[in-house]
Amino acid sequence: MTCKNVPFGILYTMVTFYKGTVLQMMLKDMSAVELRQLLAAEQKKYDEFKSRGLDLNMSRGVPAKEQLTLAQPMMDILNSEADFFDEDGTDTRNYGCFDGLASAKKLFSQMLGASPEETIVFGNSSLNIMYDTMVKAMLFGVDGVNKPWKDCGKIKWLCPAPGYDRHFLITEKLGFEMITVPLGQDGPDMDMVEKLVQSDESIKGIWCVPMYSNPTGITYSDETVKRFAALKPAAPDFRIFWDNAYCIHHLDGERDSLLNLLDEAKKCGSEDMVFMFSSTSKVSFAGAGVAAMAGSVKTIEYFKSLMKIQTIGYDKINQLRHVRFFKDMNGLEEHMKKHAAILSPKFRAVTATLEEELAPLGIGSWTKPNGGYFISFQSPDGCAKRIVSLCKEAGVTLTDAGATYPYGNDPHDSNIRIAPSFPPIETLKLAAELFCIAVKIAAAEKLLEK
Ligand SMILES: Cc1ncc(COP(=O)(O)O)c(C=O)c1O
Repeated sequence: MTCKNVPFGILYTMVTFYKGTVLQMMLKDMSAVELRQLLAAEQKKYDEFKSRGLDLNMSRGVPAKEQLTLAQPMMDILNSEADFFDEDGTDTRNYGCFDGLASAKKLFSQMLGASPEETIVFGNSSLNIMYDTMVKAMLFGVDGVNKPWKDCGKIKWLCPAPGYDRHFLITEKLGFEMITVPLGQDGPDMDMVEKLVQSDESIKGIWCVPMYSNPTGITYSDETVKRFAALKPAAPDFRIFWDNAYCIHHLDGERDSLLNLLDEAKKCGSEDMVFMFSSTSKVSFAGAGVAAMAGSVKTIEYFKSLMKIQTIGYDKINQLRHVRFFKDMNGLEEHMKKHAAILSPKFRAVTATLEEELAPLGIGSWTKPNGGYFISFQSPDGCAKRIVSLCKEAGVTLTDAGATYPYGNDPHDSNIRIAPSFPPIETLKLAAELFCIAVKIAAAEKLLEK
């Protein structure tokens, strides 16, 4: 909710009328001759960039090496044989505890905002668990009472967008008809969500990234969370997939806060509707962390009954390493401050370049999130694909334009996800410069077309 767009009006006034002198004209006010001049100048800069041979992949939110190093001591935590026993005596080297070590449930239930009885701790990836939960619901149903989704005929899924491309790929692959719901500053358009789920029994669920959303960085407002809890879906097996991937991933400065959906749902008697997910992929090691899921006791017991057939258990040694390293929520919180110290200057470097290069020309808008992994850029309509392809040609790979919408179809060809976490800051600054040149070229070309 507190994610801000750059105040163009103010910036533009400051830049254009600095000490009474007109310094820069908005792109949209330029004549064709002026646009061509700008295009030629930017094209020259672009060609220079191309000759530098940049080779940078910024397509995904990948932690930088220094971030991974923060958790390296975790690898030396279990040494002697005695270290491998959990506080309740469980030998983590052996079978058992298929739903997670007791100490891991204690820690990760707090991260998710649930009790240990409402939590399962898994292996290394929450995306894998979301996929798996979906497939179980397809094959066996969400609660053992309602029909498996595969037997429900046409099934639909709500997809707030811009959103997380891998969510959309799961529901697309499983054959859901995906319905795009606009995502605003406070969360999904709840009027639309309420209207749709109340009236259409074939709608079985919704994807949500409620905190520091991927890619727009917004956090759902308290009102949005309460409206989710109070939903009265036509489908008794409608489920909210609450992917709280960035629940502790604040940057420096102001922080967002999120109301606990499970608690709110309990007040409305709708707790069975809630599946909450998270992981330590961007806390400890990406792809080698620990994932967890929470829901009502009824939901968790049902899914455990299915899991029992599927697995003897996940990697409890890694779970124990995490518990010993982070200890408690305070330990997690302190660790995330170290991540913020690495990430925040990178976010600032990108937004500073956008402000310097694009704000005076009045091109596009972008988010300045308080946490998470992304900056979301809105280009002028019809320019996103061109910008991404110009960047790629000059050696910087961004997430495909359109990927943040169901079916890869951004109706305005406008949203671009920028992932600033991985590159060293100097390289990132270069990439941001190149990005701005590409934006100017694409926007000028678009205006000249008109
Ligand atoms: C919203 C969201 N959920 C899930 C994931 C993947 O998490 P995991 O590594 O736990 O599978 C990501 C990774 O970028 C993400 O942005």
